[in-house]
Amino acid sequence: MVKDRDAIQNPNPKKMFIGIVWNCAPELKLLLSSILFLCSLFTLFQFFPSHLSFSIQDLRHCAALPQPPPPPPPTHINQQDVVLNNGVIKRNFNTYGTAAYNFILMSAYRGGLNTFAVVGLSSKPLHVFSKPTYICQWLPQNITVAGNKILPDWGYGRVYTVVVVNCTFPFPVGDDGSGGRLLLHASTSGGGDANFNLTDTIEALTETPESLNLLQFTAPPKYDYLYCGSSLYGNLSPQRIREWVAYHVKMFGEKSHFVIHDAGGIHPEVMEVLRPWMEKGYVTVQNIREQERFDGYYHNQFLIVNDCLHRYRFMAKWMFFFDVDEFIFVPKKSTIKTVMDSLTNYTQFTIEQRTMSNKLCYLDDHVGKIYRKWGIEKLVYRDSVKGIRRDRKYAIQPRNVFATGVHMSENLLGKTTHDTEGKIMYYHYHGTISERREPCRQLVNTTSMKVGGTPYEVDKTMREVAGAVKRFELRMIGSVLIRTKQ
Ligand SMILES: *[C@@H]1O[C@H](CO)[C@@H](O)[C@H](O)[C@H]1NC(C)=O
Ligand SMILES: *[C@@H]1O[C@H](CO)[C@@H](O)[C@H](O)[C@H]1NC(C)=O
Ligand SMILES: *[C@@H]1O[C@H](CO)[C@@H](O)[C@H](O)[C@H]1NC(C)=O
Ligand SMILES: *[C@@H]1O[C@H](CO)[C@@H](O)[C@H](O)[C@H]1NC(C)=O
Ligand SMILES: *[C@@H]1O[C@H](CO)[C@@H](O)[C@H](O)[C@H]1NC(C)=O
Repeated sequence: MVKDRDAIQNPNPKKMFIGIVWNCAPELKLLLSSILFLCSLFTLFQFFPSHLSFSIQDLRHCAALPQPPPPPPPTHINQQDVVLNNGVIKRNFNTYGTAAYNFILMSAYRGGLNTFAVVGLSSKPLHVFSKPTYICQWLPQNITVAGNKILPDWGYGRVYTVVVVNCTFPFPVGDDGSGGRLLLHASTSGGGDANFNLTDTIEALTETPESLNLLQFTAPPKYDYLYCGSSLYGNLSPQRIREWVAYHVKMFGEKSHFVIHDAGGIHPEVMEVLRPWMEKGYVTVQNIREQERFDGYYHNQFLIVNDCLHRYRFMAKWMFFFDVDEFIFVPKKSTIKTVMDSLTNYTQFTIEQRTMSNKLCYLDDHVGKIYRKWGIEKLVYRDSVKGIRRDRKYAIQPRNVFATGVHMSENLLGKTTHDTEGKIMYYHYHGTISERREPCRQLVNTTSMKVGGTPYEVDKTMREVAGAVKRFELRMIGSVLIRTKQ
C-alpha cells in the first residue's frame, strides 16, 4: 500500500458555475427569475453558520449571479495591401484563429494568509511583443489586486513560457475558514494583435469552508530535505535510477522525500524500481505527460519545478534541485546535516560539479563481472580540467523563495552563496541515465589518462560508498531489486 506522505493543501479547484445565457425565451426568463429569487434566499442563508448544511455552501456561488454577458469576440479586420507614396507596396498579414493560449493553468497554491502563487504557461510571443497583465480577485469578499508576474524561464521558453503570478492581497483573505475562490484575470494587453486587449478569467483556486490549515505556514516542516526532480523522459535505465534512489535516501535520511516527474521516462521497469520506495513513503511520482501538448523548454521543466516549489513549500526545510544522473556528496568529515546547518543563514546555495566520464571504467580483478557492478562503482574517471565554469545545482529554503529555475532561483528573500567548494558537491554521470547498454566502453588500469584531449583521473570516492548503499538498500527494501537491468 502506498502511504500518503504527499498530503497537500488543495490542488483540485472545484469547477465554477457558468454564467447565464440572456437572450432566451420568455418562459426561460420566468424560470430565471425564480432561480434569482431562490438565490436571494440563499444570500440570506449564507450568513448562517457554515456547518448547518453543506448544500447551502454550494449554492453560495449562485448569489454572485447574474454576471454581465462576456464581451463579444473581436471582429476580424481584413487588411489590404497598400501602395505607399514612394511606390513601395506595403504587404499586410491577416490573422485567423488563435496561435497559443493566453494562459494554461497548472496549479495555484496558498503561500500564507494573504498570498497565493498561480503557476502556468503563457504564449511566449505574447510576452515578447506585449506586456500581458494579471489581476487577482478573491471572492466572495471581492477584493482585487494587481498580480505580480514572474517569468522564471525568461529566454528559454518556446511557444510557451512559464509564468508564476504572485497574488498578494493587502490583508488576509479566507483565513476565518469561510472558504473562497481566487480568480486570475489574464489580459493580453495588445500582444499579438495590437487592436485587442482580451481578458480571460481563470478560476485558479477554490477553498472549501474549513479546508484551510493555517498551521501549515508556521509549523516546523514535515521533511528536512525534499527533492524536486525535473521532467523525466526517454528510455531511462532502471539500474541507474535504482542506484540514485538508494544512494539519496541513505544520504538524506528518514525525513526526506523525493518528487519524481514523469514526462514519459517512467516506463514499467523504472516503475518497478521506484515502487518499493513509494511504498516506504520516500517517493512520489507525478505524471506530467499531459504537458507535452504545450511546447515549452525541455518538457516544461521550469513549469514543473515551480509547481513543486509551491506545492511543497511549507513541507520542507530545504529543497534540492538536481538531476537523476547527479549524486550529491559531502566529504567524510561531515554529514548532510552538519553541512546544511552551516548554511542555515542562506536562503540558497549552489553546488559545484564533479564531472565523471560516462564510458571509462576501472579495470579491476573481475573483468567478466563488470556489468554487474553499479555505475557509481565502475565509472571512476573524473574529468580533471581545471578552471572552467561548470553547471551548478542548488538547494533553497523554500519559505523564502517565490519562484525558481533549473540552475538557481532569482526570486527570493535572503542571501545566496556559491562558496560551498569542498563542503558539498555533486558527481555528474552525464548521458548514463538514458542509456540502456553497458556504460563501460573502455577498461583502463592507469590512474590517469587522456581521451580526446580531456584529462581524466581516477576518483574512487563514489566507488567507496557503493557497498554501504547496497547494504542500506537490502536492509530497507530487501532483495526485490537484485535482478534490475541496465
Ligand atoms: C509573493 O510575494 C511576496 C512579496 O515578495 C512574498 O512575501 C510572498 O510570500 C509571495 N507569495 C508567494 C505565494 O510566493
Ligand atoms: C466586485 O467589485 C467590482 C467593483 O468594485 C464590481 O464591478 C463587481 O461586479 C464585483 N463582483 C462581484 C462578483 O461581486
Ligand atoms: C487590458 O485590460 C486589463 C484589464 O481590464 C487592464 O488592466 C490593462 O491595463 C489593459 N491593458 C492595456 C494595454 O490597455
Ligand atoms: C547565523 O546568523 C546568526 C546571527 O547573525 C549567527 O549568530 C549564527 O552564528 C549564524 N550561523 C551560522 C551557522 O553561520
Ligand atoms: C595494467 O597495468 C600493468 C602495470 O601497470 C600492466 O603490466 C598491464 O599490462 C596492464 N593491463 C592491461 C590490461 O592494460
